[in-house]
Amino acid sequence: MKIGFLHSLLRVEEKLLVKECRNRKGLELVMLDDRKLVFQTNQRWDVDLVFVRCLNHSRALYSLRFLENAKIRCVNSLITTETCGDKISTSIALSRCSIPQPAFRVAYSERTALAAIEDLGYPAVLKPVVGSWGRLLAKVNDREAAEAVLEHKKTLGSYQHSIFYIQQYVENQGCDIRSFVIGNTCIAAIYRHSAHWITNTARGATASNCRVTDEIADISVAAAKAVGGGMVAVDLFETKHGLVVNEVNDSMEFRNSIAPTGVNIPAKIVDYLLAEAA
Ligand SMILES: Nc1ncnc2c1ncn2[C@@H]1O[C@H](COP(=O)(O)OP(=O)(O)O)[C@@H](O)[C@H]1O
Ligand SMILES: [Mg+2]
Repeated sequence: MKIGFLHSLLRVEEKLLVKECRNRKGLELVMLDDRKLVFQTNQRWDVDLVFVRCLNHSRALYSLRFLENAKIRCVNSLITTETCGDKISTSIALSRCSIPQPAFRVAYSERTALAAIEDLGYPAVLKPVVGSWGRLLAKVNDREAAEAVLEHKKTLGSYQHSIFYIQQYVENQGCDIRSFVIGNTCIAAIYRHSAHWITNTARGATASNCRVTDEIADISVAAAKAVGGGMVAVDLFETKHGLVVNEVNDSMEFRNSIAPTGVNIPAKIVDYLLAEAA
């Protein structure tokens, strides 16, 4: 089986994945460095599958357009990568499949965004439509803060920041849940603990094992299917009405989750790649 590994700089995750691939009999790894490639249509890709681990989301998207156009099976697929890369697309996909999520609104002007925030009630959360690691998130607790953040985003931000994605704030008990889905299975989950309302491990939150209950598995796998399937990491909030999905990530980071869960995540990923390439 020949698997193309499309990458940029190799982070801890990619190094673990490459090592795992190299340990497998019958798997030939073809390293595809996005910094060295030139894409064109009618290109021959001599691989059974391409595993996309680009650092830059736009590079992943354009590479996927070329690869899928050449009928190459990719993990994750273009549809999953596109949907997860955009919080509005994710929310619409979750809604289409009736998966619980925090109430959200989208508006394009300061006036309509303020009205939407007041409709949802304070606190509300404003997020860039495209982004990760909790960057540029704003929790607005009152009208004055909302007006200030909206004006700053509109005046100082790029065009993207004037697409206002607004979510209802969900109170947490000092942690939220990150689950990992591969194919039809939720393979592991962690609690992310933080004194801050933003609980990304990239921002210093600590991880501990979270038992994968049926409720966690069901909502995680349903969320993964809703965005196009493959392997994804799902952010979940616990509420008094049950779990809700905050967002779904297409290029999972798992370096802090192997030890607490005891699950060999890279091995599970490579098992999936081999099954998909067959
Ligand atoms: N609506 C919300 N209510 C409460 N906390 C939130 C909300 N949205 C985001 N957060 C916090 O901020 C973190 C990052 O938000 P998220 O939507 O996952 O963006 P990113 O793509 O940057 O990870 C979440 O893991 C959570 O801790
Ligand atoms: Mg997140």
